[in-house]
Amino acid sequence: MSNTRPNCVLHCQGVSHWFGSNRVLNNINLEITAGQIVAVVGPSGCGKSTLLRAILGTHPPKAGQIIANGHPVTRPNRDVGIVYQNYSLFDFLTARDNVAFGLMLDQTTLPERLFGYFQWRKLRSQHRQQALDLLEKVQLSKAANLYPHEMSGGMRQRVAIAQALIMEPKILLLDEPFGALDEATREELQLMLLRLYDENLQAKAAGQTPPYTILIVTHELNEALYVSDRVIGLSQYHQDGANGATIVYDKQAPVFKAGDARDFEQFETQKDELRKAVFTPSATRHHSEFVTFWNEHDKAFAP
Ligand SMILES: Nc1ncnc2c1ncn2[C@@H]1O[C@H](COP(=O)(O)OP(=O)(O)OP(=O)(O)O)[C@@H](O)[C@H]1O
Ligand SMILES: [Mg+2]
Repeated sequence: MSNTRPNCVLHCQGVSHWFGSNRVLNNINLEITAGQIVAVVGPSGCGKSTLLRAILGTHPPKAGQIIANGHPVTRPNRDVGIVYQNYSLFDFLTARDNVAFGLMLDQTTLPERLFGYFQWRKLRSQHRQQALDLLEKVQLSKAANLYPHEMSGGMRQRVAIAQALIMEPKILLLDEPFGALDEATREELQLMLLRLYDENLQAKAAGQTPPYTILIVTHELNEALYVSDRVIGLSQYHQDGANGATIVYDKQAPVFKAGDARDFEQFETQKDELRKAVFTPSATRHHSEFVTFWNEHDKAFAP
């Protein structure tokens, strides 16, 4: 077992997974520290969702180990949250109550809800207030009383993200969260991620642990480079590809502020590199050629 970095929230150690004879993930080693927003790109079917399900704990890997917040992941737990592309909300609850629902389940028992009415009411109003705070964060304060059928797809997806964030997961997994949205809505949600990242920077500057650590799968290279500070490529296109996909790219991504121009021209070199390293079926190179994130980081921060 390798040493873990300070502030490590997710550590995948030699993670492999297969379905029968279909070898999907091959020896994934990945360390993510608090406050990173990490984009994951890779060819369709390479195993991105399989990796996320392993980290979530619903489908543990066949080999290797995943440590989240210092604990081995063997089943779903509070440390890891997830939002999918078409995440479903509870139709019979308003936006606010959808967001508050997880806390309510977590912090009250059924007998308390049934028999401890006044105590329960007090807690419920606290949870609803927290839900409103979260809705404000995703810029949905005005929609607090709407039901899912009264919201647009983008609004529903934001409620889903607020619902995940209210549980304060140590790491939030987003599996193509904006995939079903139109371009303008997608941009708004990307900005929301940039604002969360900005909160991370503020927390760091104040000497606190940054609150949001996010792993986001997207098939859009522009989106990957725009919203993240680190981009990872998962791919079966490498020397040992017959044994499944592994991490073939791991580098810093340019950091944007919410107010910056969306100038994607400057991504071209990195996008070319990503296409070459991650999406080229004929690639036979060693998988670690473009896996330099921690080396570069350590060099930059060497005393
Ligand atoms: N439950 C399952 N049973 C058998 N095979 C599976 C199962 N889930 C996934 N697979 C296979 O594992 C491989 C990886 O699937 P996965 O959904 O993780 O890919 P992905 O990278 O998320 O693809 P996409 O970009 O299309 O979402 C595919 O070959 C898929 O057919
Ligand atoms: Mg997938």
